[in-house]
Amino acid sequence: QHAAQVLVASNRGPVSYALHEDGSLDAKRGGGGLVSGLSAVDDKMWVCAALGDGDREAVRRGVGEPGVRMLDIDADVHADAYNGIANSVLWFVHHLLYQTPVEPVFDAEFRRQWASFEAYNRAFAEALAEEAGEGAAVLVQDYHLVLVPGMLRELRPDLRIGHFSHTPWAPVDYFRMLPDDIAEQVLRGILGADRAAFLTRRWADAFIGCCTEILGGTGHTRIGVHGLGADADFLLRRAHEADVDDRMAALREQVGPGRKTIVRVDRTELSKNIVRGMLAYRALLDERPEWRGRVVHVAFAYPSRQDLAVYREYTAEVQRVADDINAAHGTADWTPVVLHVKDDFARSLAAYRLADVALVNPIRDGMNLVAKEVPVVSDHGCALVLSREAGAHEELGDDAVTVNPYDVSATADALHEALTMEDDERAERTERLAAAATALPPQQWFLDQLEALRQG
Ligand code: G6P
Repeated sequence: QHAAQVLVASNRGPVSYALHEDGSLDAKRGGGGLVSGLSAVDDKMWVCAALGDGDREAVRRGVGEPGVRMLDIDADVHADAYNGIANSVLWFVHHLLYQTPVEPVFDAEFRRQWASFEAYNRAFAEALAEEAGEGAAVLVQDYHLVLVPGMLRELRPDLRIGHFSHTPWAPVDYFRMLPDDIAEQVLRGILGADRAAFLTRRWADAFIGCCTEILGGTGHTRIGVHGLGADADFLLRRAHEADVDDRMAALREQVGPGRKTIVRVDRTELSKNIVRGMLAYRALLDERPEWRGRVVHVAFAYPSRQDLAVYREYTAEVQRVADDINAAHGTADWTPVVLHVKDDFARSLAAYRLADVALVNPIRDGMNLVAKEVPVVSDHGCALVLSREAGAHEELGDDAVTVNPYDVSATADALHEALTMEDDERAERTERLAAAATALPPQQWFLDQLEALRQG
């Protein structure tokens, strides 16, 4: 076996394993931009973390896929790094999620978790240093691994190192909440890369702003922007398979004949703003009685990061608000909100095809691929209500109905506007949205980054 020439590092890998009662292991393959991007490349290696019991068991038994190395990092260290630092601190900072009068609190417990975060990043850096061939390109992904570029640079100065942020980047005044030494360590970690890339100009500028204010500049690191687009070929093929047709029939039945649908599909994620979206829908029904009985809000809110209490509470809150709306407005033959919480990709695609309106109202989002996927898959054109704080808004804003995600009344008005859009206009806008959404397909997105990194 010879050393890899292209390496990707991410917390969540392209495959995961479920461990069954009888001791058998089932592999489940993931999708996404990196998977399809990497498929076009030879001599590659994906380094990721073992995330659950199944993954750990697979590592111990030596089960695995060629070209994937799963790191069996101590479970407590991983939990501190992933739940404690990555998802509770860095994610919160970049999405502006703190209730700042009482949080964050950077104390001894934080310092203990930070030490785990360093150990977890070091495990990645060491594995990459082992696997990489001379002069190889290493593409490090996301906020989980911000310290890796700096660590890897010290171990292997010959490598071409890139870092890609899939999240927004915080404005400097917010980023500065981090303890000074930690803020510097995060920035210097990324600046260990030859290139640091982002999904939009806005996030890249915020990063540059932090580096300028805190460190005096970005040093030798070049900054790039690569706006990941939707994978039209894959989506259109997948959306017309038999299981999606079945789900469409089931959804049509749930919605009832002659009614419009407002669809949303998200991880149950604090930044997705699901609760305000429902409050806006409720305001629509309260204030415009003509919609009662004529529209259904189809909301898919799939489980995410359930180890964190705030995510569990948020999930319960979403359910509570949906129940409240149904109790207040529902009738014998009309359920105003249909909420599904069990992950089902085929059903998501069915909803994309059926939707009259898609609601994508995050309070902040690196890109948001739902906003890009819906117009591609839509059967008869779908009006897009889109938050101006989603990265996708930079590319889709012209043909979406734009909302300030905090403004529930304005979001209700936007839903009304979207529901009443003329068929022709909706179809034309959907066509333009689909073109903008697929401008940079995943493979090209990945190859552009590789090319830019190699050119130095
Ligand atoms: C965001 C992050 C990804 C992450 C995904 C799902 O999109 O940028 O890195 O994989 O959320 O979150 P999870 O915590 O389930 O991996």
